[in-house]
Amino acid sequence: MIADALSRRIARRIRAEGPLSVAAYMAMALYDPEGGYYSRRNPIGAQGDFITAPEISQVFGDLIGLWCAVVWDQLGRSDPVVLAELGPGRGVLMNDLLRAAATVPDFRHALRLYLIETSAVLRADQEARLAQFDPTWVPRLEDLPEGPLLLVANEFLDALPIRQFVRRGVYWSERLVTLSGEDSFTFVEAPPSPVSALLAPEVLRLSAEEGAVIEICPVALALAAALGARFSRQPGAALFVDYGYFPSAPGDRLRGLSRHRAVPALEAPGTADLSAHVDFAAFAETARACGAETHGPLAQGRFLAGLGARERAATLRARATTSQRRAIDRGVERLLDPGDMGTLFKAIALTSPGPAPPGFESGQ
Ligand SMILES: C[S@@+](CC[C@H](N)C(=O)[O-])C[C@H]1O[C@@H](n2cnc3c(N)ncnc32)[C@H](O)[C@@H]1O
Repeated sequence: MIADALSRRIARRIRAEGPLSVAAYMAMALYDPEGGYYSRRNPIGAQGDFITAPEISQVFGDLIGLWCAVVWDQLGRSDPVVLAELGPGRGVLMNDLLRAAATVPDFRHALRLYLIETSAVLRADQEARLAQFDPTWVPRLEDLPEGPLLLVANEFLDALPIRQFVRRGVYWSERLVTLSGEDSFTFVEAPPSPVSALLAPEVLRLSAEEGAVIEICPVALALAAALGARFSRQPGAALFVDYGYFPSAPGDRLRGLSRHRAVPALEAPGTADLSAHVDFAAFAETARACGAETHGPLAQGRFLAGLGARERAATLRARATTSQRRAIDRGVERLLDPGDMGTLFKAIALTSPGPAPPGFESGQ
């Protein structure tokens, strides 16, 4: 039996409209105002489904706070400057970032904090944690005030809905989600189409093998385009940290995650996180085509180590208890681990024309 109200709504829509794109299915599973994954609960932390870098170690937010202060200086020390975060989760990254930014009082004084968050549950956490910084919530990037901008986002792009296409001869077929009997969902392919072929990244269009899956994330590309256009007109920098790949490559990377374990992507929509890896090459190319400069992507471990992660940890250790010291070491090593988060996660910066931001001076 299709268990809950969200599954029944998705099933009704499929009966009325036919199979849904993976993106339409993901959008309902993640963002449906009543049953969507991000609408139901706080998914982050040991008790949730996944843990993120700022929740692992405060060093992450400390370093990004200093990164923002240095970039603000590089951009000309504008006052005011918009500081925005996409998908702030429980507000932990921003809280650490602002504490570190307070060491540069002129920056702290100049910044105006804006948050973009879809989840009412997480927004309530942000309100509680960040009240002293007087944040303003806006629905979309386009709603931010004009002017110099610093933007940060950790594990935001991977949550955006993707579309999938399968190579079939000289064309591509879109992978869709349909009903399997009455009570579950399954993938099906639309007829191969020359139009679908145009959506595949150019480099893969002809080189991918028969049956290869490629993924595009229209919302992420629209975001890159909007930031590119903005940074061609006014000063700014955006730092994205996420798991993903570079260069573009085929692969079915849609994943379900529940209680820190992988689950089938189409099982019980709304109850498990759904995410995909970020195509950093497509993201960067789009931003550049619209006028931004791009820096990276760099492996997270290299980026954070270059910003002084170990030195920052040593400073924290100096005034910590023995058990706190162990936690500080474990946290930082987990962020830097080349066999895990240190490589899987990558940092990329989009900027207005100017010098490379801290950590990106030596290129990729
Ligand atoms: C994986 S969590 C990461 C949270 C936080 N950045 C961290 O590192 O702990 C994704 C965040 O993005 C938010 N989010 C996802 N899609 C969004 C969208 N389309 N617009 C705004 N926020 C979104 C989620 O509610 C959540 O806060």
